[in-house]
Amino acid sequence: MCGIVGYIGEQDACPILIDGLKRLEYRGYDSAGVAVLNGGGIDIRKSVGKLRALENVLEDCAPHGCIGIGHTRWATHGRPSDENAHPHSDCTGRITVVHNGIIENYVELKDRLVRGGHEFKSETDTEVAAHLIESHYKGDIAQAVRNAASEMDGSFALVVIAQNEPDKIIAARRHSPLVIGLGEGENYLASDVAAFLKYTRSVVYADDNNVVTITREGISVTDLDGNLIDKKAQTVDWDAAMAERGGYEHFMLKEIHEQPRALRETMRGRLSLEKNCVELPGINLTHDEIRKIDRIVMIACGTAYHASMAGKYAIEQLCRIPVELDVASELRYRDPIVDEHTLGIVISQSGETLDTMVGLNEVKNKGAKVIAITNVVGSMAARDAHGVLYTYAGPEIAVASTKAYTTQLMVLYLVALYFAQIRGTLDEQRATELREALWELPQKAELILNDVTAIESAAARYYCFNGFLYMARGANLASALEGALKVKEISYMHAEGYAAGEMKHGPIAMIDPTFATITVAVKSKTYDKILSNIREVKARSGDVIAIANPGDTTISDYADRVITVPETEEIFSPVLVAVPLQLMAYFVAYNRGPAIDQPRNLAKTVTVE
Ligand code: M6R
Repeated sequence: MCGIVGYIGEQDACPILIDGLKRLEYRGYDSAGVAVLNGGGIDIRKSVGKLRALENVLEDCAPHGCIGIGHTRWATHGRPSDENAHPHSDCTGRITVVHNGIIENYVELKDRLVRGGHEFKSETDTEVAAHLIESHYKGDIAQAVRNAASEMDGSFALVVIAQNEPDKIIAARRHSPLVIGLGEGENYLASDVAAFLKYTRSVVYADDNNVVTITREGISVTDLDGNLIDKKAQTVDWDAAMAERGGYEHFMLKEIHEQPRALRETMRGRLSLEKNCVELPGINLTHDEIRKIDRIVMIACGTAYHASMAGKYAIEQLCRIPVELDVASELRYRDPIVDEHTLGIVISQSGETLDTMVGLNEVKNKGAKVIAITNVVGSMAARDAHGVLYTYAGPEIAVASTKAYTTQLMVLYLVALYFAQIRGTLDEQRATELREALWELPQKAELILNDVTAIESAAARYYCFNGFLYMARGANLASALEGALKVKEISYMHAEGYAAGEMKHGPIAMIDPTFATITVAVKSKTYDKILSNIREVKARSGDVIAIANPGDTTISDYADRVITVPETEEIFSPVLVAVPLQLMAYFVAYNRGPAIDQPRNLAKTVTVE
């Protein structure tokens, strides 16, 4: 978590740093700060609270200079406060750092440094890095960073400036993202390309244990022993406009509306109705390897985990391969049974979620082939996996994931159809029907988005209820969990997702007239069972909103409100069901008033355990 930026060039650094931090604020917003080399020394400004608070500070006294670093914080060690805000400096104030990650052995390092006479001003692990670099500094800041990084355990992306070497910025990374932007006579560093997309799309991704020196003229990268590493620049195909709100009040609403386009782009070049097939360049598995897979283990967190639930349903139905799901934070500690016939599928929007990346390497080290489904080109997941399937959602800025989720579903459906094609588990007519159904999803999502009044009006009634219960069956159990998560994270309301068949085993006790039940009642083989579940809720005076298909004349006799989504194959319906559930969460939150794009206590990318 936390966003870091760096700039070196001929322009005034501070406005560039602030602009970059605005685009990284989704990573954390407990405090923010900048440090600028001004010729004489290092000028630091910082403030607890969102970036706006720092901007207020800068209105009166912005530091000036052409080299600087900046930070937006998601607190881990030390509460949000001015003292704990980054940047942090060494005892002399000549070395200043910003950091994303957790230095796990910071207590031990700090004890040693304190015994050596270093004085600390904050409760953060980051300040340890500043003093550790100071302790190694003998006139070469890059070497001091290498020595310090070698002593640090845990995760870090560090960006460092030194008063005695005012023509460079040094950065280092391990398990936290760090990307370098290449300009003309100027260069950039950041946690995410969004920070500098408006200046350059030419980037270099740092790898674990790389130490990077950037000057105005260029960059050089070494390992921790100082050996030079040759890095190739890549061009990212996102543009700056994609990371703007484009007239929408919130990024979340914009991203919900972008789903038809994102789904189309994710299908492009992969699903062809003319050629009657699915092609997945990038998967990096031979047909023989695909035929030999006897088990799939999916690894993900949060929303991506919900995508894996729906993906399991599709893959098991269409390919008859058993799929095991794991919340990544659990997988890493349970010594999973994996061999060379197991396929690992890692799902992560950012491609940087720490638990997911550890899970990826766990199954890889046990001999499994791993494919990554990620939205970020060049991310850790993309680099560490054997094969990568990108979701072409474009930058997702709102903390609540929307278009990343539906495009992850799309990729998983393509994988299911591709494997079924190679393993021969579907007859041709059924395969054609499914490909056609998949092809129609973006257009059907568009139909939902063309008229959102029923969802808006439902939200206006239910936002002041005591909570929500989401119930569904089959492929849409994932929708129930995801719908509940969306409400929780942006409205702070109590919401639970449950398998409808489990209602009688406990959750039904919660039902009363102030607790709304949202149920997925689209066409499926368990439709009648869902109707019975609705009856049970109604018999306990519960209020029921059903997501159903147009033309369903039965459902209105059961539910209090009906929101329709176009009909599709049951296994693909989670994509369409997701849209009204996302909008419901959005409008409920809108009525309640919290900060929708930046909910409290959260950050977009969880790069700590
Ligand atoms: O970047 P990732 O997909 O690995 O992120 C995983 C979760 O942190 C993420 O999906 C989170 O649950 C969402 N922000 C929820 O909307």
